Amino acid sequence: MERVRIFDTTLRDGEQSPGVSLNAMEKLQIARQLQKLGVDVIEAGFPITSPGDKEAVSLIAREVKGVVVAALARASALDIETAWEAIKEAESPRIHTFIATSDIHLKYKLKMDRETVIERAVAAVKLAKKFTADVEFSAEDASRSDLDFLCRVVEAAVKAGATTINIPDTVGYAEPEEFGEFIRKILEKVPVMDRAVLSVHCHDDLGLAVANSLAAIKNGARQVECTINGIGERAGNCSLEEIVMALYTRKDVLPFYTGIKTEEIYRTSKLVSNLTGMPVQPNKAIVGKNAFSHESGIHQDGVLKERTTYEIMNPRLVGIPESRLVLGKHSGRHALKERLLELGYELTEEQLNEAFVKFKALADKKKEVTDQDLEAMMEEEIRKV
Ligand code: KIV
Ligand code: ZN
Repeated sequence: MERVRIFDTTLRDGEQSPGVSLNAMEKLQIARQLQKLGVDVIEAGFPITSPGDKEAVSLIAREVKGVVVAALARASALDIETAWEAIKEAESPRIHTFIATSDIHLKYKLKMDRETVIERAVAAVKLAKKFTADVEFSAEDASRSDLDFLCRVVEAAVKAGATTINIPDTVGYAEPEEFGEFIRKILEKVPVMDRAVLSVHCHDDLGLAVANSLAAIKNGARQVECTINGIGERAGNCSLEEIVMALYTRKDVLPFYTGIKTEEIYRTSKLVSNLTGMPVQPNKAIVGKNAFSHESGIHQDGVLKERTTYEIMNPRLVGIPESRLVLGKHSGRHALKERLLELGYELTEEQLNEAFVKFKALADKKKEVTDQDLEAMMEEEIRKV
């Protein structure tokens, strides 16, 4: 069994989902939960994009320990210096710098020739390296780049000091078999790849992000970049819960493991959905409302006789309790605390006391206090902070 590192970019690529904007306290709350979930790297943001994002990244770097905290930077001095300013207080800081390598991006976006791209990549990695030993380099739009040129860029970045090389499928164009081959060839052709971890970052435009990431792992990638609930630019990124549970459930054909505490998956999903305002579709794999529900009589009968007839995972494994407590006016503090914890809210004694008073007032007006009621109640509290 080989270890695959989980690089979570919910707070960077995930926050690039149209309509999503998180404040510093919301980002910090998610980062704390990601650390609890056991991700290896939290990409906390893209500090050059706004003073607010830079402040949020600094806060996470200061407060969240026991995990690598990364900040994104284009291959430019100002971006890299700003990223470093933001993460310099982290226990384990990583600068993640990138430049595009596909001809289409070179011609229309960067208006740069290939030699200049290599020079910029090398200069960016060298500058980042002055600040921290942990430097990741990404070749944006790698999957649509000329393989030989891409290999030259990758080799130059490793020689300049990059310790992680990320191969993004930026526009979700790759197909699993082809992408797996692509990764294998990079590892074969670049002589210095034993000095760096190969990572992949797949987007979901064709619904293939998880399949492409799995194909890459089978061919030598040892870091995957992903987001909670698969949120991200356009159709989103590889979903963390899906790739982690695919590796966990199919160890027989995928002999890899991650450091993820799977029992924390559901509450992380709920927290991200609540704070981003992006609902999770009911039929979403692993964390959707219907993921462990059975509707047809045949399925219900099968599950009642033996759960594994129609369930390939035990819902408890991802933190979904099989039976739920109904919360009403006779419920106590303990039940409320547990339910709030399931929904991703870890409260201090004082916060719980306040929440309990509000909950009782609500319970007097309603027969049952639903998760939605509790989420609305907690969002109101967070907004006050
Ligand atoms: O999709 C992409 O190429 C990215 C890079 C910045 C890693 O998000
Ligand atoms: Zn991306």
